[in-house]
Amino acid sequence: MKKDFRKSTVYQIYPKSFCDTDGDGLGDLKGVTSKLDYIRELGVDYIWLTPFFVSPQNDNGYDVEDYYSIDPRYGTMADVEELIKEADKRGIRLMFDMVFNHVSTRHEWFRKAMEGDPYYKEFFFFRKGKPDGSAPTNWESKFGGSAWEYVEKFDEYYLHLFDVTQADLNWENENVRKEVQNIVRFWMDKGVKGFRFDVVNLISKSCFEDDETGDGRKYYTDGPKIHQYLRELHDMSFGQDADIVTVGEMSSTSIENCYQYAGQDTGELSMVFSFHHLKVDFMGNEKWVLVPADFQKLKDIIFEWQTKMAEHNAWNAVFWCNHDQPRVVSRFGDEGKYWKESAKMLATVIHCLRGTPYIYQGEEIGMTNTDFTDISQFRDVESLNYYRILQEKGLSAGDAFRIIQVHSRDNGRTPMQWDDSAYAGFTSGEKNEPWIAVNGNYRKINAAEQMKDKDSVFHYYRKLIALRKELDVISSGSVEPLAQKDPSVFAYRRSCEGHDLIVAANFYGKEYLWKGAPDLSGYSRILGNYAGTQADGDGNIVMKPYEAAVWYR
Ligand code: GLC
Repeated sequence: MKKDFRKSTVYQIYPKSFCDTDGDGLGDLKGVTSKLDYIRELGVDYIWLTPFFVSPQNDNGYDVEDYYSIDPRYGTMADVEELIKEADKRGIRLMFDMVFNHVSTRHEWFRKAMEGDPYYKEFFFFRKGKPDGSAPTNWESKFGGSAWEYVEKFDEYYLHLFDVTQADLNWENENVRKEVQNIVRFWMDKGVKGFRFDVVNLISKSCFEDDETGDGRKYYTDGPKIHQYLRELHDMSFGQDADIVTVGEMSSTSIENCYQYAGQDTGELSMVFSFHHLKVDFMGNEKWVLVPADFQKLKDIIFEWQTKMAEHNAWNAVFWCNHDQPRVVSRFGDEGKYWKESAKMLATVIHCLRGTPYIYQGEEIGMTNTDFTDISQFRDVESLNYYRILQEKGLSAGDAFRIIQVHSRDNGRTPMQWDDSAYAGFTSGEKNEPWIAVNGNYRKINAAEQMKDKDSVFHYYRKLIALRKELDVISSGSVEPLAQKDPSVFAYRRSCEGHDLIVAANFYGKEYLWKGAPDLSGYSRILGNYAGTQADGDGNIVMKPYEAAVWYR
């Protein structure tokens, strides 16, 4: 049956941290298959699986060595086929994660390039340094340090926008583009019905110059041929099956480019992830600082994307969490007294927006940031690099550590908390402990507990997912921001064919009198995280701490 991605919800799985069936401390594909009934119970339509291809795992699989084979740590090709088949039986489709901006330096293409094979050298960006021998440009790697690595035997540098073991592919080269198309078609033939394209707006680079005012991103973000490359990939692969859904991860993108990337008839992608709303606790683009989240900015950004993407008939992916982000309940909610209320409030705000919602494993049970107390517990290459870089810049080890605790990607990568048994039921741990420590709060926060409790965060997510299928106003309605300047309330109206939906949320842990609230006559309250909402009919609503409610007429 054809799926409508506007009515769909996607569940993201980071297999390494999801479920370990062979006791080696790493999650695996069989683990994903074993949890399909849980995922079906939630009611989602797609599973986005982050990469499980052969990889040295320097960036947990985003450093691909072979796109056609499964990393034995995750399982086998038979396991993948079984997963696709079993998911299909439950009406769930698979979306695979395609990393095409770069490959692992262990990929055959790069190894041949390093042997001096001219055909494969053209797959990458090898460039001479400056006359003084320094790197070709001053660009910085997103994981810290220079984006260029010197190769003595060529007296040249190669480009890596991420880790030094992730070499950027040269999309100017038609042979690269053909290889990429073949990979997508291979997975389509296996029955994969969706693709997520990793940092895909970085693939078009042609100008290699020093960036006098920044880190180089302006030279490769939304680059000159990006739309052409995406249309070509669309036409030569996934675009040949109208039933395939695609999402592009767009790093530091502009909304104008996204009208194209995710426009209804532009022949590029179905939708985009943009991240501006998740930089409201950064200083500009600087992530490694501690600043409070700017609520006004958060609303302004979300509303700008909601309304402008709608005006241009383009589609958003809407989300708070993924494997690169801290847990949202720790970030914008409350891990303590109002843990449950705030987790539900944040879910309400996202799931009633215009776009396709993405849930990241554990979000549906309100998992929180790590409780790590020592740097040795962190695993992520970016976090470890910045722990060092921050100290090189003069911060004390303690201050650097506090920044890592708040912003580290490992906050989202601790094992899924299934139950209250040892290691949260993630692994039997027979051969090894989990690759990264389980959060100590798993006895309180775990899936088994929440499946039993009808008032849980898990069951609240279920309702939101079902509501999107039920009400066209959620999947297709227009968006009108409400209370845009209110210091506590996040609210909006959705409208479609004579129906309206009002969503309102108190973003803070204090009771708040919302004055000038919209007239709710004729509406019924269809969802909320408290038993009822107090509205006095005169435009005043008393919003309890982290209260969220949805009204429909
Ligand atoms: C994306 C991935 C991230 C990875 C990076 C490089 O941002 O989500 O996990 O490190 O690309 O591939």
